[in-house]
Amino acid sequence: MIPPHFIDELLSRIDLVDVIGSRIDLKRTGQRFSALCPFHDERSPSFSVNQDKQFYHCFGCKSSGNAIKFIMEFDGLDFPTAVKGLSESVGLKVPTEENADTSQQQKKNRLYKVLEEANLFFKTSLRDHPEKQKAVSYLKGRSVTGSIARDLGLGYAPPGWNGLVAHLEKKEISLDEALEAGLIARKDNGSGFYDRFRDRVTFPIVDLRGRVIGFGGRVLDDEAKPKYLNSPESLVFQKSREIYGLYEARNNSRKLDIIMVVEGYMDVLALSQNKIDFSVATLGTAINSQQIKSIFRTAPSIVFCFDGDLAGRNGASKALLAALPVMEDGLSAKFMFLPDGEDPDSLIRKEGKEKMLSRIQDSKTLTEFFFDEIETKISSRTPEGMAAAAKKAAPLFNLLPNGVLKEILINTLAEKTGVDSVKLQNRLGLESTSSDSLPQSYVSASSQSYQSYSISKDKVRPLIDQAIEILMANPELGANIEQGVLDELSRDPETGLLSDLLTWTRDAENVDQERVLRYCREKLNYQVSKHLVNREVVLSIGELSKELGDLLKKLLITIKGFRRSELLSNLTKKSLKDLTEDEKKILSNSYKKPIQ
Ligand code: UTP
Ligand code: MN
Repeated sequence: MIPPHFIDELLSRIDLVDVIGSRIDLKRTGQRFSALCPFHDERSPSFSVNQDKQFYHCFGCKSSGNAIKFIMEFDGLDFPTAVKGLSESVGLKVPTEENADTSQQQKKNRLYKVLEEANLFFKTSLRDHPEKQKAVSYLKGRSVTGSIARDLGLGYAPPGWNGLVAHLEKKEISLDEALEAGLIARKDNGSGFYDRFRDRVTFPIVDLRGRVIGFGGRVLDDEAKPKYLNSPESLVFQKSREIYGLYEARNNSRKLDIIMVVEGYMDVLALSQNKIDFSVATLGTAINSQQIKSIFRTAPSIVFCFDGDLAGRNGASKALLAALPVMEDGLSAKFMFLPDGEDPDSLIRKEGKEKMLSRIQDSKTLTEFFFDEIETKISSRTPEGMAAAAKKAAPLFNLLPNGVLKEILINTLAEKTGVDSVKLQNRLGLESTSSDSLPQSYVSASSQSYQSYSISKDKVRPLIDQAIEILMANPELGANIEQGVLDELSRDPETGLLSDLLTWTRDAENVDQERVLRYCREKLNYQVSKHLVNREVVLSIGELSKELGDLLKKLLITIKGFRRSELLSNLTKKSLKDLTEDEKKILSNSYKKPIQ
């Protein structure tokens, strides 16, 4: 990985105007530079370069970015190659992992080492520990074969409180590092450590380079809680990034056509055992766009697998939203719904490989599922109903990159609604800037960018910045925030960012300014502005705590205001006869008490 500080350094040394100007004809127009857009066909220039901000934007095709993005798109390069070329042009050398960020990297390396040692210990315990029989019978009971156990590195964390601790001590490995890797925890009385994983079957979680970064552990006795325990996040392990089984799936076959995404460790195991060795699982979280992207780097097709119940359906809606932004041409996604009460583990044992393959074959295409999702929102098949459906679909279309899939979906929508596709396209284009066309179920599905239509960034970003600033100075303040506040904040993508950060500062250990910055940048894709980072914070911790509380209160009031005005603006567009009694009440109250 190229260290982010190097990217900052590189961008500060080059001038976007030079970079673009050496490739296309740029004309100065006032404060900006403009040109015919190199990324789409046009007669009059809508491509603009802002030198102050070092940012380009095309008002026509909406492509935008910094110098690196421009080089990638224009020269058709991948990120590292673009960075390398640009670096050479200004005489910089790209740091490699070996010579970069040494202290950070060394620390990571120490964590990989202790994790690998734990992995060996667990694997050995499954073979040699006096109480191994419990684990062995459990696995046998679930018909896990020895060879799968070996392939996936299954192990056994022995019962008792300090099997691993004692093993590491014997090996003279620092327990502080084991603590930081989440393998052990500090005793309540402060003296000494105990094993986090006890009397559980362990599943090593490895990154794409095959390094162990964490573990999942399943109890042997179904009554015990929690059924699955995962390593906490650490310097080397972030749940929402990793995908269980992806490394193995890649290694199983040189060229994969499809990857099947399931929910659990045992599903991956059972499938693999039945010769479906291309399944992966998320680690107890809903899949996100970044994970989907990383799967697509391995195979051009994904089939998401869900339970047939309501939870499964909701999971599928979320997966669709996460998939849309990364559906580049040539990629495909399918959605498979299992019969009620089954998971892939139970089903493959019952039905076998061939039936599973045909289920994959028969699963819904993205297009089919996309329209299922829209059609649940069509209230009537009248022209008005259809127009309303088209309107509701707009935010979904706006998530899609331009390409063949988008065109197919637009044409299909045109067919289904009877609206001419050019008209429809115009209409969808227009909708993209409007603020009121989001289907309610997506608003409540609460995950990434698709809701941001509803909330004005200008109003909330400064508040969020201030909160981040306080957290950088005192990450421990995150622990004081009530869950209710976090939940409220997480309902909106803008403030959800802050709620993720707060949750993380509360749960992670050893958080410092640097880690906060990195978390914002890497996990939340949020660049904390330089002046925030460098500002001296002079308030006392008590004052800061109060300040943070006040800020969050203000944020909540602000977003509630937005939600309310959005709701009202939707209601006022309905005709009176379509309003429910409740909605009428809301409206008539709003006339009494104007909202700001
Ligand atoms: P399930 O409970 O559906 O898992 O949870 P499963 O694979 O069917 O479990 P078995 O068959 O009873 O062994 C699916 C996934 O959700 C996460 C785990 O990643 C699990 O694989 N999970 C579940 C947890 O993290 N903690 C839990 O307590 C339960
Ligand atoms: Mn199961």
